Amino acid sequence: MAILEVEGLVAGYGRIEVLHGVSLRLQEHSLCAIIGANGAGKTTLLAALSRLIPIREGRAIFDGREITHASSHAVARAGLVQVPEGRRMLAGMSVEENLLVAGEGAGGRTVGADVAAMFERFPTLAPRRALPAGSLSGGEQQMLAFARALMAHPKALLLDEPSMGLAPRLVETVFDLIAEERARGTSILLVEQNARKALALADHAYVLERGSISLEGKGADLLGREEITAAYLGEATP
Ligand SMILES: Nc1ncnc2c1ncn2[C@@H]1O[C@H](COP(=O)(O)OP(=O)(O)OP(=O)(O)O)[C@@H](O)[C@H]1O
Ligand SMILES: [Mg+2]
Repeated sequence: MAILEVEGLVAGYGRIEVLHGVSLRLQEHSLCAIIGANGAGKTTLLAALSRLIPIREGRAIFDGREITHASSHAVARAGLVQVPEGRRMLAGMSVEENLLVAGEGAGGRTVGADVAAMFERFPTLAPRRALPAGSLSGGEQQMLAFARALMAHPKALLLDEPSMGLAPRLVETVFDLIAEERARGTSILLVEQNARKALALADHAYVLERGSISLEGKGADLLGREEITAAYLGEATP
C-alpha cells in the first residue's frame, strides 16, 4: 500500500513553474529515492509535500487523506515530517531542549523517555546535551535535525540531502541511520546527490529531470542502467 501518493503535481515560485506534473508513490515501510541534477526541483518537491509552498495543480494523498491544501502543521501532525536541508533548529537552545521542543510539538506524552532513547541512538549527541545547538559541528547538527524529526514519531520522513557536506565516515553513519529507520517501519522519501548510495539503499527510485520524472524503477535496477551511470554516477563519491 502507498502511504504517499502524488499525482500530476505542479509547483513553482511566482511566474516560474518548477515542477510540471510530478507523479510518484511511496510504499509503506519502504525507502524511495529521488535523484536528479542541481536545480531539477527536488527540494521544491519536498517543500510542496511538506506544504511550505502551494501545490498549484494535481494532488497529494498521505495515509489515506488528501493533503494537497493542508497546512504544514497539519501535515506534520498527520505524520509526514521533513528533515530540512538547512538543518534549521533553535541555535540558542541546548541540544536537549531542541529535542524536548520537537517532542512537545508532536504532542507526545513520553517526551522524556523519547529524549533518552535519542541519546542512545545518537551517541555523539549525548555528551553534548547541554551545549547550545548552534555550537555543534555540521555533522552533529545533521544528527540533531534527524533526531528532532524522529521525536515526532513520523510515519514517513522527507529527507533532503542528509549526507551533504559530511565526512565519509559520517555519511556512512547517516545512511546506516536511514536504513535502521526504514527497518523500524518508517517510510522514507530520500533526496540525495549521492546517487550511488541512495539507489543501492532504495526499494524504488525516480529520476527528476528539469521538473519532470524521466525514469523510475527499483533502486538496484536503476543502478545498472547506462543512462543513469553516465549522468549521475560518473564521478559519484564511493
Ligand atoms: N525560493 C525560490 N524562489 C525562486 N526560485 C526558486 C526558489 N527556490 C528554488 N528556485 C528555483 O527552482 C528550481 C529548482 O530548485 P530546487 O532547489 O528545487 O532544485 P534541487 O533539485 O533541489 O537542486 P539541488 O540539487 O541544487 O539542491 C531552480 O531553478 C531554482 O533556481
Ligand atoms: Mg535541493
